[in-house]
Amino acid sequence: MEEKRPTWTSRYTFMLAAIGSAVGLGNIWRFPYIMGQYGGAVFLVVYLTLIMTICFVPLMAELYLGKHTKKECIGAYESVSPKLKPLGALNPVTGVLIASFYFIVGGWIINYITKSFCMSCHCDYAQYFSDFIAEPVYPCVLTLAFLFMCIFFTAKGVKKGIEFANKVLMPLFAVILLILVIFSLNLPNAYLGLEYMFKPDLTKVTPQMVLAALGQAFFTLSIGMGALLTYGSYIDEDKNITKSVYTIILSDTAFAILAGIMIFPAVFSFNLEPSSGAGLVFITLPKIFAQLPFGNLVSFAFFVLLFCAAVTSGISILEAPCATLIEQFKISRIKSCAILFGIISLIAIPATLSFGLLNKYTLFNKTIFDFLDFTTSNILLPLNTLILCLIAGWMLKLDGRKFFTNRVLIFMFNICLKFIVPSALISLLYIGLRN
Ligand code: PFF
Repeated sequence: MEEKRPTWTSRYTFMLAAIGSAVGLGNIWRFPYIMGQYGGAVFLVVYLTLIMTICFVPLMAELYLGKHTKKECIGAYESVSPKLKPLGALNPVTGVLIASFYFIVGGWIINYITKSFCMSCHCDYAQYFSDFIAEPVYPCVLTLAFLFMCIFFTAKGVKKGIEFANKVLMPLFAVILLILVIFSLNLPNAYLGLEYMFKPDLTKVTPQMVLAALGQAFFTLSIGMGALLTYGSYIDEDKNITKSVYTIILSDTAFAILAGIMIFPAVFSFNLEPSSGAGLVFITLPKIFAQLPFGNLVSFAFFVLLFCAAVTSGISILEAPCATLIEQFKISRIKSCAILFGIISLIAIPATLSFGLLNKYTLFNKTIFDFLDFTTSNILLPLNTLILCLIAGWMLKLDGRKFFTNRVLIFMFNICLKFIVPSALISLLYIGLRN
């Protein structure tokens, strides 16, 4: 039986879900670090300028394509031209591959939530982390548990699943974040962390910094794998999406800055080296939590916060391939979710094992996990975004007049969509491939 196309309850729930998709691990473990590395406040100015003038363009194009065609990725590309179907399919495929490594980290987060109250018994945090991820069974079980939790909301549908999860988890995320920010700012020498993040350093303004800002912006805004196209296709009302896009962008950036204000004052207060990624979250921060007053509680709150961010992003990653299965193969949402669970597990389990049992098996000199992370973040996401811009700009002839009345803005939008964003993406792809 063919399912009726779902729609959002209101513009507010759509924006909440889009912000939930954008605010994820990228905001917490990557943005603050890159900001500190690339000149603090100067990076922030460059980043804000880039997202307000360039990065919002593909975001708008992706949402527009979904809203305009009311179809999932393959159907949306096919409505522009039947020849584009395979390119549309690349989006849900990217989603499945991203899910296969993003959800592994989700499993690690569950482990750290449950271990928060016995943190002090582990003295060597680096050793604990590397032993834990190399175990053959437990991390796989946790990856599947995290996948199951996210897919549960996807299976419940747009209103009862995706909207519900975002309505509960996003406010919880925001409240915990604010409490931890206040806590962190009250630690001794907290100002050193703020200095690291915000102190302007003009010598860091280089083309490399601009590309780092662009790469971060595209990843954090969840552009390039059809998640937002699919979310856009559930927009019912015929409202202009420009305001929503700016709200999404600004909220995402605000959360990323707050995450930095939560993390770096604590790192500097304990005289530790600033870092990013898994090392920051699963080694450096637990070391700090163990020394803090009420450290167990702070650790629990922090990993619950990370969990909320990862689940709301995870749900959005699943929605594009799920909608494709429903609409292209005419199967029910529940069956689509069951199939997705099977496919993602098949890729995620070897990737989870690539930290231990399968660490000798490499593809292009990378373990399975690193290969998935590298190909999706550095190649598939920019490639899909490039294809999207070319289709929207040159085939659909998407015009800035659809979103703006100001002539300068219309001109800027059109130039960005057709020339500037594709050139930036080609540079990102070139750097990604050269690496
Ligand atoms: N934006 C998420 C983050 O910053 O962690 C990651 C992400 C989610 C990427 C959804 C792509 C996506 F479709």
